[in-house]
Formats: sequence, C-alpha cells, structure tokens
Amino acid sequence: MYSEKVMDHFNNPRNVGELENPSGVGTVGNAKCGDIMRMYLDIDDNGIIREAKFKTFGCGAAVATSSMATELVKGKTIQEALQVTNKAVMEALDGLPPVKVHCSLLAEEAIHAALWDYAEKHNITIEGLEKPVNDIGEKEEAEEEQY
Ligand code: FES
Repeated sequence: MYSEKVMDHFNNPRNVGELENPSGVGTVGNAKCGDIMRMYLDIDDNGIIREAKFKTFGCGAAVATSSMATELVKGKTIQEALQVTNKAVMEALDGLPPVKVHCSLLAEEAIHAALWDYAEKHNITIEGLEKPVNDIGEKEEAEEEQY
C-alpha cells in the first residue's frame, strides 16, 4: 500500500528535531485527525534555506511527508521552496494512497507557516505566499466546497 520511499522515510525520518534560533518556525495541525507538524527553517542572508528540521505528532504518512519536505527545501531559495507543494512531496515519495493525500498538505502548509514567520520577523513580503492556516482541516473543507 505504501511505496518503499514512504516506508523508508517513515522508518528513518530525516531531519527530525528542532533548530535553536530558527529563522522561521511554523506549526500546523489538522483538527480532523489531530495530527500536528512543526517545521523549523534556517535561512541565510542570501535567502537560501540552510537547514530544515521538523517535529511531527501524527500518522506515518505525515512523518514521511515532513521528512521528505525538509529534504526538498534544504539548499533551496525561498521562491524555490514555495514550489515544494504537497504534490511535489508526494511525487518525491512515489505517491501516497488516496486517503493519505491530506497528510502531505500538512507538510506543504508547515513550510508555508515557517516562511510566513520568517517574513514577519524580517518585515518582508514573500511573493506568492498566502497567510497559512493553523488548522489544515478548514482549508480542506474550503477546497471541498469549491467543487
Ligand atoms: Fe492526519 Fe495523516 S491522518 S496527517
């Protein structure tokens, strides 16, 4: 049911932990399943993400997607990190079962929340970044209503 890559990132998650004095930190949750993800980013003066760490209290797919998301954003510029969507994370993991797609949304939103925090601390606007939601469940419902 899960790809080898998902199992690998679940069993050996990369970049677990916290950063001291992160440039940006964001926490998002999904009230529907109760899962929570916190993402820490260290961004240098050139706007390159040097380090990314995460803590996830959640299902296996949430752990695997946050692990992969931190791997994908490391070394990237802020704008490139915005391209790390839940779809990009899922593709990098060779897919997720349909019922687990929402878990990858948590990873995307956690990156956005950390970038938002960075932008607020530095008093800058990141083009293309929308204010993240604390509860991803609300966003899903809003998306469902659109269809
Ligand atoms: Fe909640 Fe996976 S079931 S994030």
